[in-house]
Amino acid sequence: MPRRAERPAPTAAELATRQRDISVAEFFLENRHLLGFDSPQKALLTAVKEAVDNALDACEEAQILPEVRVEVRPVDDGVLRVAIEDNGPGIVEAQIGKIFGKLLYGSRFHKLSQSRGQQGLGISAAGMYAQLTTGKPLSIRTRVVGEPAHELSVGIDTSRNRPDIHDKRQVDWSVAHGTRVEIELEARERAGAHSVERYLRLTSIANPHVTLHLVDAAGNATTFVRTTNELPPQPDEIKPHPDGLELGRLVALLKSTDERHLGAFLQNELSRVGSKTAQRIIARADHGLTARSYPRRVARRQASALYRALHATKVSAPVASCVVPIGEARLLASLERESHADFCVVVCRPPAVYRGNPFVVEVGLAYGGSTDADGLTSSASEPVTLLRFANRVPLLFQQSACAMTRAVIDTGWRSYGLTHPKGALPLGPMLILLHVASVWVPFTSESKEAVASYPEIARELALALRACGRKLRAHLARSERLSRAEDRRERIRRYVPHVVTALTELLALDALYAERLTTELSEALELPREGESR
Ligand SMILES: Nc1ncnc2c1ncn2[C@@H]1O[C@H](COP(=O)(O)OP(=O)(O)OP(=O)(O)O)[C@@H](O)[C@H]1O
Ligand SMILES: [Mg+2]
Repeated sequence: MPRRAERPAPTAAELATRQRDISVAEFFLENRHLLGFDSPQKALLTAVKEAVDNALDACEEAQILPEVRVEVRPVDDGVLRVAIEDNGPGIVEAQIGKIFGKLLYGSRFHKLSQSRGQQGLGISAAGMYAQLTTGKPLSIRTRVVGEPAHELSVGIDTSRNRPDIHDKRQVDWSVAHGTRVEIELEARERAGAHSVERYLRLTSIANPHVTLHLVDAAGNATTFVRTTNELPPQPDEIKPHPDGLELGRLVALLKSTDERHLGAFLQNELSRVGSKTAQRIIARADHGLTARSYPRRVARRQASALYRALHATKVSAPVASCVVPIGEARLLASLERESHADFCVVVCRPPAVYRGNPFVVEVGLAYGGSTDADGLTSSASEPVTLLRFANRVPLLFQQSACAMTRAVIDTGWRSYGLTHPKGALPLGPMLILLHVASVWVPFTSESKEAVASYPEIARELALALRACGRKLRAHLARSERLSRAEDRRERIRRYVPHVVTALTELLALDALYAERLTTELSEALELPREGESR
């Protein structure tokens, strides 16, 4: 084998010259799979999802009933142009560039409040993928109420993570307020479980107050009309809850607070800490800390003691108003409408906390009934269908990596009457809907496709699933009883004509009497037996 030419090893000084800053945009350009843009099929859905999520967040924040239009238009082989238009509050001119042309820029990252957006990455990532694959910037049209509408093109200067704005102009637009985003990208339309249509359908299940219009690439129009005119309550913004709060986070809060006294810091920078609880925590922490200690001067050692004391002190559960579930009645109505099942049940758990972040879990289950044409419910021999949602957003990818799937697999479905292969989903004509709503959903990656398995979240999911399972078992037992009783009746029913004939002959009954006897015997058979409700 020829020997490789010997190269002198680089010195530390030479190695040092290779070190460079990496812009966040350059990083995500190389790692676009982390943002959900790993194939043209996935790219379409991810781009639509980011824009629809933003539209719904903006409308709800401005207390507007959302009406969102999605239009997909073929441009070239493998290239689609997607427009997403909302009736939200619009975007003020000065913000447009950064929102659409700068990664990690947004209004939601720094506040603990339930919303679909969290990271400040979504829509600019879609713009970056579009620019990479077609060279076209995003086209934005937006109008704030009482102001003229603006239209402009926004690209991204990836080496500096800065917006590149072109062709800014005022335009006539018949709408009073709203935003329209147009994205031209390398993408393919998919049918079935990963289609835009399915995504919008699932969005409407979890958001019954939303109307969604779709025109697909073939020109087919579909509308999902809202079933309620009531907006969900606005989730309250909160401070971190002491349960599960990490030491590093506590230290960061101590360093950045404007509070001048530790007592006030604990009460105002954390959730559910009143003055008595604050006093108790400080006394327990000891290490020279008092209610009047200056938070920014708390030493590492004292912060550790404070951290231990925080966790050893009982603090009330988070206020329920910071997380907004879809709600039992709304979820049940959506499930019944969409699944055509024989039996539906929904369980909503009270708020719990992981890593200092309140969250709430809801689980719905639909069993049996007519197999639905759109394939939401599975057949008897197939694994059950899972519909996963996080902050009302359907999750369509990474099912096996998700805490919600894990929780379904780990539930003992055999004791609830289903076939359940080990380590897999149970089998049966069933649909399970799972929703995790939180002030901060712990996604497994930036593409927000699966929820991480924090023990507290897994526990809440398990409790909700078991409660649904128990109700399913009762339903299946009732169905079984009814079907056995029906079987018995059917067998007796076959003898009624023979009994009537025999009696007619034996007692020499006339035809009218024989007919009455047949009716009475048949009616008696239909009466429910004691303890049998039908
Ligand atoms: N259609 C819209 N109407 C009004 N404001 C919008 C709209 N789209 C985006 N925004 C604003 O732009 C910000 C950035 O959006 P972007 O999708 O990049 O991040 P995000 O929604 O905050 O978080 P995530 O990365 O999780 O989606 C949002 O926080 C919101 O304030
Ligand atoms: Mg977003």
